[in-house]
Amino acid sequence: MKFEPITYEQGKITLLDQTKLPEQVAYRECTTVEELWDAIKCLAVRGAPLLGVAAAYGICLGIDNKKCTTPKDLVSFVAETAQYIGTSRPTAVNLFWALERMKKVVTGAPDKTVAELEIMMHNEAQAIFKEDLSLSRAMGKAGNEIIADGDSVLTHCNAGGLATSGYGTALAVLFTAHENGKQIHVYADETRPLLQGSRLTAWELKEYGIPVTVICDNMAATLMRQGKIQKIITGADRIAANGDAANKIGTYSVAVLAKHHGIPFYIAAPYSTIDFSIASGDAIVIEERGRQEIAEGFGKKTVPDGVPVFNPAFDVTPAAFITGIITEEGILMPPYTESLQALR
Ligand code: MRU
Repeated sequence: MKFEPITYEQGKITLLDQTKLPEQVAYRECTTVEELWDAIKCLAVRGAPLLGVAAAYGICLGIDNKKCTTPKDLVSFVAETAQYIGTSRPTAVNLFWALERMKKVVTGAPDKTVAELEIMMHNEAQAIFKEDLSLSRAMGKAGNEIIADGDSVLTHCNAGGLATSGYGTALAVLFTAHENGKQIHVYADETRPLLQGSRLTAWELKEYGIPVTVICDNMAATLMRQGKIQKIITGADRIAANGDAANKIGTYSVAVLAKHHGIPFYIAAPYSTIDFSIASGDAIVIEERGRQEIAEGFGKKTVPDGVPVFNPAFDVTPAAFITGIITEEGILMPPYTESLQALR
């Protein structure tokens, strides 16, 4: 790992503050659940799998500060805290998956004392962190199969170490290909409005020594037409049971362009990103964010006062546009209703 996106010690979560990159490598400490909520909301910590880890550590922070006296109090406190953390961002299912996993620890052990339950919760949060790292490695290995020496790969948003415990999903594939000696080149969509592609993906790839070129989102079609892109890989925030995948706004356009140009379009995601409770992407709640991200995104006014903006943070790519889903268990192929079910 080149950097640590998140660390936890009793009573404190330390985050690599992603709002400050690439200008500064700065850390942000959260000592209350409210501070963590704010850090999630403003994207100081972000990316679906990392949101799961942050949520689990958030529960630990809550119980470190609260000092419940009975197991019953602890169960209701954990439920309340999970509910609160869940209001921070709605789309990435990993956040809710991790909160459910933390809640199960306290509800599933009725004979334990508060002290024992607290230790079990801390262990569970550490397990979620560590598991995510090994899932990333496994996705990297699985996805490496599709990367040929000399490929130029387009990615959108940031699905790297900054979006996970430290290695990535889509970028894990590229890191693994690079570690295996393949000469690759990456095009990073800048990813308006918050520029996760140019600020974060380009920073990470540069740290790894992988050649990267940043393009504005509206340039991808031209590059595809010029034959400059051989593969596209992105992450996902939630994958429905039929394979429809929500990811950063703009991913859908990239997938449509890929189909038109006959370029393989892959999603890379661990099992914690799959939401079997929803049949299709129509049921995915898409976060809408504030006006300021579009109207004053570069620290200056870019939209006239009084003109409305629309700012959905994610879109859904229908399964029909996805060539394959790279998971820790290998690459799933269509029909996804069947291949995802088999993974389950
Ligand atoms: O709004 P963000 O920056 O949290 O959006 C993140 C993405 O869309 C990522 O591509 C996704 O979470 C996959 S991360 C491995």
